[in-house]
Parts: sequence; C-alpha cells; structure tokens
Amino acid sequence: MKDLAFYEKFFLKRIPYKIEKRDGKYIWIKGEKFLNFSSNDYLGIASSRRANKKISKAFLDFDISASSSRLICGNYSIIEEVEKEYAQFFGYEDALFFPSGYQANLAVISALFEKEDIILFDKHAHSSIIKGIMLSEAEYHGFNHNSISHLNRRLSKFPKKAVVITESLFSMDGDLLDIKEMKSLKEKFGFFCLVDEAHAFGVLGKKGKGIAGGLADIAIGTFGKAFGFSGAFVLMPKKIKELLFNLSAPLMHSTAISPAHAAACRELLYIVAEADTEREHLRNISHIAKHKLKEEGFSVSGDAHIICLRIGDERKSLSISKRLLEKNIYIPSVRYPTVPMGSSILRISMTSMHTEEDVKYLIKVLKDAWNKD
Ligand SMILES: Cc1ncc(COP(=O)(O)O)c(C=O)c1O
Repeated sequence: MKDLAFYEKFFLKRIPYKIEKRDGKYIWIKGEKFLNFSSNDYLGIASSRRANKKISKAFLDFDISASSSRLICGNYSIIEEVEKEYAQFFGYEDALFFPSGYQANLAVISALFEKEDIILFDKHAHSSIIKGIMLSEAEYHGFNHNSISHLNRRLSKFPKKAVVITESLFSMDGDLLDIKEMKSLKEKFGFFCLVDEAHAFGVLGKKGKGIAGGLADIAIGTFGKAFGFSGAFVLMPKKIKELLFNLSAPLMHSTAISPAHAAACRELLYIVAEADTEREHLRNISHIAKHKLKEEGFSVSGDAHIICLRIGDERKSLSISKRLLEKNIYIPSVRYPTVPMGSSILRISMTSMHTEEDVKYLIKVLKDAWNKD
C-alpha cells in the first residue's frame, strides 16, 4: 500500500481545512473569518438566498432520489425535460446529466472511443479527462498546453480523423482556448472535438453560454462551479446520448441524479441566464486584479476570472499560502499532482462578490507574504 512519506518530504501532503460556515465571499475556520479567493462560486449563486430557496423548494416538490440508474427505473420525465432545456439553451441537440463533472468526463470519454481512434489532448487538461482517456481503448497523444501549432503538427502526422479533447477556460492556468484558430484547424482536419467548459459555462459568452459553440461536438459543463450546485451536464448530439446509454459503464451502473436535483437545475438555468450584472462585474474585477498584480511585479497569467500566480517551489507556495491565512485571506497552494512537480501555483479564483477593496487588501497582504519568505 502507498504511504504519505514521499508527499510529506516534498511539501506535497494535503490536509483539508474544516470550513465551519460560509457567507458569500467569506468562510470561517476555527471561529475566524477569512476572505475566500478559492471558490468556484463565480456568480455568487451558491451563497445566495434566492438559489437556496429555489433548490429547497425543488427538493420539497420532487422525489429526492432516482433510486436506480437511468436504465432501470431512474429515467424520470423531469430529468429528460430539463436536459432538453439545457441542450436548447446552449445550442446542442441533446444533453445528459451526471452526478459530477469528474464522472461525466470518465463516462463519456471512456465509452465513446475505441482502438482505431486517435485522441489528441491538451497536456494541461483536467484529471478526469486524462483518466477517461486512459480508460478508453483509443491510442492517445498529448499536445503542448494551448499550442495550436503543436496540435497542427500532431494532426498532420495522423492520416485518419482524430479526436481532440481540450478545455475552453483552463482550470489551473486560467487561459482561454483560441477558439478561432481551433475552428480553422477543425475545418482543415475535420476532427471530432470535445471541449470541457466547466469553468466557462455560466460566466463566459452571451448569457453564460460558453465560448466553444460551433467548435465542440460534445461540451462538458458542471453545476458545481458558476451554477452554484453540484452535478454535471454533457451537451451532445442525440445519437451519442443513445450510444452512452448502451456503452457507458459509469452511466449504466450508477444511480442517476434525482428528479429534485433536475428540477433545481431548471431553476438555476433561469438564475444563470439572468446574471448579466454579475458577469459584467466579474469580468471587470478580474481584469483589475490581474493588472494590479502584474503592476506589482507578480508573475500571473489568466484571461478571465481564474488568475494563476506562478510560484514553482512547493515549500515557498505553502509558506506564502500560510502567511495569507495569518492575514485572513484564504488561497490554498496548488501542488503536484494537480500541477507538474516544481510548478506550484496559487490559484486566485475571482467571483462577482469581490470588490476593488478586496483586491487591494489581497495585493497588500501578498506583497508582505512574498517579501517575508
Ligand atoms: C475542467 C474541469 N472539468 C471537470 C471537473 C470536475 O467537475 P466536478 O467538480 O463537477 O466533478 C473540474 C473540477 O474541478 C474541472 O476543473
């Protein structure tokens, strides 16, 4: 059996903090209040009374469990109806809900591709994508992170149609996929394209419809980030949904999300669609934060609301994160295996709840923490 000695020696051991409560952008640990810069509640929906009430009502009005997989007796009409509403909103033929985004990626990627397929994936793609690829029977090759030229070279090398899997807003680096260039590549090579829009849906694009429409044949979204809940939705052609019901083990052999959950997701779609004010504030505050951090000389990247502060050394990133905590700012250090060894980062996650005052305080505390290390 594995043990944690290696992780301890190289500053990689993780112990989750116990969060006692949350109120908007604040969390409480051991009775103390912290300004949270690590949540994916990008639009503040998870901490809003409005969403809480709507979700509670859905759980009062509908069955709280599907009590089986979709194929046995869990295929409730409310789930199918809300899936259709999601498909229509995002501009796809059909949709399928899953209990989590991790399961969705595993379920779709592991099931769809076979020995004859060649999958090309971005090397910084999420763990669930990589695990899904490894579970599939396909041949697979990584391409350098967000490198259209490397992907082009890889695609030229394979005479037959490939499958390309990537993200639209990268969860750790915070950079955006170059949609225009990817569309040109797709026209040139005609590949099948799966795009994980987990961090973009709800926030980016008109009404939060994401940015990979017209490029992605399949898009993955999760309810656990901007939608303020949990679970996931996969947008896809109708015939792929049919195929998954027959071939996808994580879908066939696992309890479906509940009717109540689906009813709650219907309400959340209305809330997300109406959240233009939150989206605009989030865009502005993220822009301000990134530019202020750059002005102060920090090495940051990120094209939207995820700002990646590059540190490298694991010990240093842990120590800075601890110093931030001492000043009531919560940003855990992200280390291997989430990012490569020696490439530790602080992932600053901006939300529509943050203000310019919050950004000023973050930068002041970060400067002190950095200089003291
Ligand atoms: C790009 C990406 N895809 C999928 C997931 C998994 O989603 P969930 O948290 O709903 O399991 C995550 C979560 O961190 C993610 O960042």
